[in-house]
Parts: sequence; structure tokens; C-alpha cells
Amino acid sequence: MAHLAHDPDARPDGRSANDLKAVMPLTAELRDGELYVGGVSTVELAREFGTALYVYDEEHIRERLATWLRELRAVLPQADVAYAGKAFTCKAMVRLLAEAGAHLDVSSGGELAIALAAGFPAERVVVHGNNKSERELTEAIEAGAGLIVVDCFEELERVNRLAGGRGVVQPILLRIKPGVVADTHEYIRTGAEDSKFGFGLSDGAALQAVEQALALPHCDLRGLHAHIGSQIYALESFAETLRVLAAFLAELRASTGFVARDLNLGGGVGIAYLADDEPPQIAQFAAIVAETLKAACREHDLPLPRLLVEPGRSIVAGAGLTLYTVGSIKKLLDLRTYVAVDGGMTDNIRVALYGARYESVIASRADAPRDALVTLAGKHCESGDVVAIDASLQSPRVGDVICMFATGAYGHSMASNYNRQVRPGVVFVRDGRAREVLRRETYADLLNCETD
Ligand code: LLP
Repeated sequence: MAHLAHDPDARPDGRSANDLKAVMPLTAELRDGELYVGGVSTVELAREFGTALYVYDEEHIRERLATWLRELRAVLPQADVAYAGKAFTCKAMVRLLAEAGAHLDVSSGGELAIALAAGFPAERVVVHGNNKSERELTEAIEAGAGLIVVDCFEELERVNRLAGGRGVVQPILLRIKPGVVADTHEYIRTGAEDSKFGFGLSDGAALQAVEQALALPHCDLRGLHAHIGSQIYALESFAETLRVLAAFLAELRASTGFVARDLNLGGGVGIAYLADDEPPQIAQFAAIVAETLKAACREHDLPLPRLLVEPGRSIVAGAGLTLYTVGSIKKLLDLRTYVAVDGGMTDNIRVALYGARYESVIASRADAPRDALVTLAGKHCESGDVVAIDASLQSPRVGDVICMFATGAYGHSMASNYNRQVRPGVVFVRDGRAREVLRRETYADLLNCETD
């Protein structure tokens, strides 16, 4: 667990919220030194809804969705954006997607159920998973899911049989491993040959899958999908993936006559977690992807397919923040200061899992320089339960509300009930109003599944 190590030479950075704009939600502002989001005081939010609490800037989500659609369609008018629901899903989020005209990538039957409950149009749903159950496939087919991304040979047979049993033809994509190794954490890298996802190109599995799919009467093969990983800054990796897929499409047309209508490039565009991070802009992503796709199609004399992308993190991460309350402070002489908060690895596993780092401020003194260096510890029964190591912060006091930025992706969606902790609620803020879209769990929720 090397990432738990504290750097004895680290010093507080003296920055305040004024220097952290890069990781703060769009509508974040300071009023008398206090942090407001969506026109609502974060201190008030903590008081009203309790902590730990996830807060989302609705305007930020809307803006990111609109930017993705606008920038991509400016260069590829047929393009569609399928938000990756695994980053954060609930009915309120799904309704924002529906309003924006986005598609939705679901990675399980549960995500599909939430989408359908929110009234999301099934024809705009893309169904993912490397081992979808018969039940999940049946639910997707019966709902009329727009696309099922088939991940393995067994699934080709299952989709064909289940669709046939219902007298329908299911539109599908095949997930391909392009052999592109993206520069990101090993756990969230998926495009290499040694990956559990999709069909390999070099071993001939992808070609075999296309041939089989074309022969199945209840599968309508629309094209290919590839997702190379997550939190990626190097746009060249996406361009490389497109070149590999286009070359494969050319090979397919020559050997089978198949011409793809859809090409799905997955998600993965990285965001800023720290103030000095410099993630790519969506416009840059769109420009490189469009240029590469058009050039590759010209080179192979292929018609331009509809491009789909599946951003998750880059739509919701920066929109979200977590509020915690400081419960205790331990100054360990010549070691470090542990500041314990009322959450931890159950609401944010990313620190323990990937060594993720975040920026935080004290909500009521956000304009003051961060003059202390602390380790923000959770309340759970493991030493690895930390949410920030060597974090610069305005000297914390017991009772202070801490605001941790950029926790909107893979925070709530990866939350757990470890230690029988109840999961925090989720509040959307906009125009000076807060609405609780998911309430905090209760002990009754914990007891709900008990049968004895
Ligand atoms: N499409 C597919 C098929 C995916 O598997 C994923 C993410 C996405 C799209 C969205 O990727 P994004 O734009 O959010 O990077 N729990 C990890 C991230 C795992 C990502 C899994 N797949 C984390 O907290 O960093």
C-alpha cells in the first residue's frame, strides 16, 4: 500500500478556493469566504441534509452534456453521445440525459431498470457488460434496447436465441480489443490484448465473431465498439484506436462484404482532479477523432459510419463534490495529522483502489490560504480508509465542513455498505435551490433484505 505513505517534506500549498477553479463545479462561488454551489451554501447543505453528502451542480452537468453534443456534432453531424451510466446513475440524472438528447450506456440490468423507470427511451440505450446474464439480455431485448454490445461468442448465441424467441431482430455491436495500451491506471485499462473485454483482433476472434454474427437471423450487426480505458489524457490513443478499427473494417468488407453503420469509441476522456492537472478539452478530442476517422475512411474508401462516444467521468466528475464533517483530529508528533471525517472508503473507494487524489477546502473558510497539511481519514475499520493523503487544507477544526471536489464520477456509483455504513444521499443544486434526488439510506434499508 505504498500510496498511503506520507511525504515528510510535503508542505501546505497556501492556495485557497480562488486557485482551485479547475476542479470546482461551474457555478461554485465564494460569498463572505463561504463556498456556494448552484447558489446554495455548502455549509447550509451540510446542516440540512447531513454529511457525508454528495452534491451535484446541475448546471455543470447540463453544460458538459451540451458541450459534448455540440463539439462532436460540429465535426461529425451524425455523432451521438451515450453517457456512461456507471459513472453515476439515478432517475434525476437519467432525466437530464433525456432532455439533452443524449443516449445512455448501461452496464447492468440494474442501470437499465433505473433508466426505464425514469422513462428513458429504450431505443437510445446501449447495453454493455462482459458477462450479461440471460435475464439481463432478455430485459434489454424486451425493452427494445437500441444496441447490445456483444462481448463474447456465448453472448452472440444467447442474443440470437432470445431475440428469436420473441420474434425480433436485435441491433448489436461487437466489442473489439484494439490492442491499444492507454496510459492510465492498470485497473481501468481495457484495450490491450490481455483484457477480459471483447474479441481480440490478432488472434482472429474478432473476424470469427463478425462472420458468425452476419449469419445469425435475429442479430443485426450494426458495427464495432472499442473502449480502451478511463481517465486518459493522451488523445493519440483514441486516434490510434480509430485507425485500428478502420483498418479492420476494410479487411471485413474485403472478406465478408460487411459495411459498418456504427462505430462506438467508448469513453475514457480524463478530467482534472488536482488544480494543476491539464486534461484535454472536449473540442480537442472531437477535432482529433473526426480528423482521424475521416482520413481513415478516405484511405480505405469506406463510408463514414455514425460515431458514438460514451463519456462518463468527463460529464459528472467535476459537477460533483462530497461534503464531510470533521469529527476528530489526531496530531501525531513528527509523523502527521489525521483529520477524521464522517465517511471514507464507503463513499469514495477510489483512493484505496487507485491512489486517487483530490483537492479539498473548508467550506466556511474557502477563501483562506490552505495552511495545514493533513491526512483525511475515514471512519471505517481499515488503515487504508483515507480520502486524501498530504492534503493542503485551511487548518481544520472539529465540526468544520470539508468540501472535496471532483468526486462526481465513480463515487456514489462505487459506494458500499462496508461496516454496515448507510450510503450518503445525493442533492442536486440549481438556481439557489437544493433537491434531494437520492435520500440517505437508513438502518431500515440495511434491514430490508433480511429474511430471517
Ligand atoms: N464505456 C465503457 C464500455 C466503459 O467500460 C466505461 C468505463 C465508459 C464508457 C466510461 O468511461 P469514462 O468516460 O467514465 O472514463 N471506477 C473507475 C473507472 C472505471 C471505468 C469503467 N468503464 C474509476 O473510478 O476511475
